[in-house]
Amino acid sequence: MSSPKLPSLLIVEDDLALQKQIKWSLDRFESVVADDVASAVLQFRRHTPAVVTMDLGLPPDQDSVSEGFKCLEKLLELDPNVKVIVLTGQNDQANALRAIRMGAYDFLAKPVDADVLELTVERALRLYELQQENRRLQMQNQVDALGGVITRDPGMQRVCRMVEKVAPSDATVLLLGESGTGKEVLAQGLHDASKRKGRFVAINCAAIPENLLESELFGYEKGAFTGATKTTVGKIETADGGTLMLDEIGDLPMSLQAKLLRFLQERKIERIGGRQEIAIDVRVVGATHQDLKKQIEEGRFREDLYYRLAEIVVDIPPLRNRVGDAVLLSHSFLRRFASEQRRPVIGLAEDAIHAIEAHRWPGNVRELQNVLKRALIMADGNKLGALDLQLKVAEPADDETSLDLRLVRERAERQAVLTALARTDGNIARAADLLGVSRPTLYDLMNRLQVKTAASKESN
Ligand SMILES: Nc1ncnc2c1ncn2[C@@H]1O[C@H](COP(=O)(O)OP(=O)(O)OP(=O)(O)O)[C@@H](O)[C@H]1O
Ligand SMILES: [Mg+2]
Repeated sequence: MSSPKLPSLLIVEDDLALQKQIKWSLDRFESVVADDVASAVLQFRRHTPAVVTMDLGLPPDQDSVSEGFKCLEKLLELDPNVKVIVLTGQNDQANALRAIRMGAYDFLAKPVDADVLELTVERALRLYELQQENRRLQMQNQVDALGGVITRDPGMQRVCRMVEKVAPSDATVLLLGESGTGKEVLAQGLHDASKRKGRFVAINCAAIPENLLESELFGYEKGAFTGATKTTVGKIETADGGTLMLDEIGDLPMSLQAKLLRFLQERKIERIGGRQEIAIDVRVVGATHQDLKKQIEEGRFREDLYYRLAEIVVDIPPLRNRVGDAVLLSHSFLRRFASEQRRPVIGLAEDAIHAIEAHRWPGNVRELQNVLKRALIMADGNKLGALDLQLKVAEPADDETSLDLRLVRERAERQAVLTALARTDGNIARAADLLGVSRPTLYDLMNRLQVKTAASKESN
């Protein structure tokens, strides 16, 4: 299938003769045109151009610049990286500067010299492409083992660092976290970062009936039981040289707990019906959303097995305790879904952002994914609103901690900074605006509060 070249230029100009003239003088570039704010936004969504040339005086109010600035704001909101070249009247320095301050790339006074315009567009395009390439390279560098984990929350970042640190060792790791917090993502990341050559194999102990689980784990010899028509290796053997994730380990039946313990002590298995011990080199990762300590007290989980599994315990914070992450993840998922479905990216309306921030997310990241997927199907505007999300009203958070004023202040500051960065999807300039501080002040704040610029941030 041949893909037509994407227009890289949008020309916004209400004077049709002038529009034609500009298009003609820039005929080296694939371009589309628009003559007012609505059509500009529409074309922009449809074609996501890299560069826009824009007249500031647009209908219905050609004599003022209000429509032009509205248009500029909207386009930058749709893509903060777009290069907008503003065409102003003669001697209209004030508006030119205002446009630059808002994020326009450059300005030219009308009447515009065709060569100057062409050169300016050319430079803008080159800058756009360089920046895009740069983002791509940065992403590639970041495609480390935990590249799939999106977070800016300090607690969750600590979790990622811990996983990276223990990865090269042989230590058995226990991942504790509510359902949907990313246990499997982290287990896979642990495997990838471990450089173990074998496979990553996951088995869900809760999903397989007790009588099948043993053969699933240990495998069986031909003729071991009726129906065992050929020798079959189990998951532990399949993971030899790699990593075995025992998901929902809290649901492992007592009889198998004893067998698993023996394996963890001796690192050898015997297939069902087999006579021979097979040595296995596997890194084991347990995961559960259950309270294992409580299960031990109730006699449902072996304490000795717990200590074998819990050489390193990783507590994964629930999404509601990760500051700013719900909105950050939402932006990223919306981008991913849009590219999967080859649709333009749909943004989040202000009230949707508030609803996402207020929700308790009992099902964590998985719930967030599902909510957004459903909302996308239901939404018919070009922004998801709170109503599209269909979230239940949240209960207030109940965790009240220290009242030390300095700590309270820091906590509030960090929360505000993280929230602003999440809302603006990491755009420092806009986050600074939201916070009502200058860009350098925001950098200082981020430094002091140890907030990273873009941790494991997806870009595309
Ligand atoms: N921090 C994150 N960044 C990006 N995607 C994430 C993140 N955390 C989880 N996900 C995604 O959310 C979904 C749920 O994650 P995962 O399956 O790892 O959770 P889990 O804790 O194993 O859940 P369950 O208890 O339901 O098995 C997956 O699609 C995963 O890719
Ligand atoms: Mg899971």
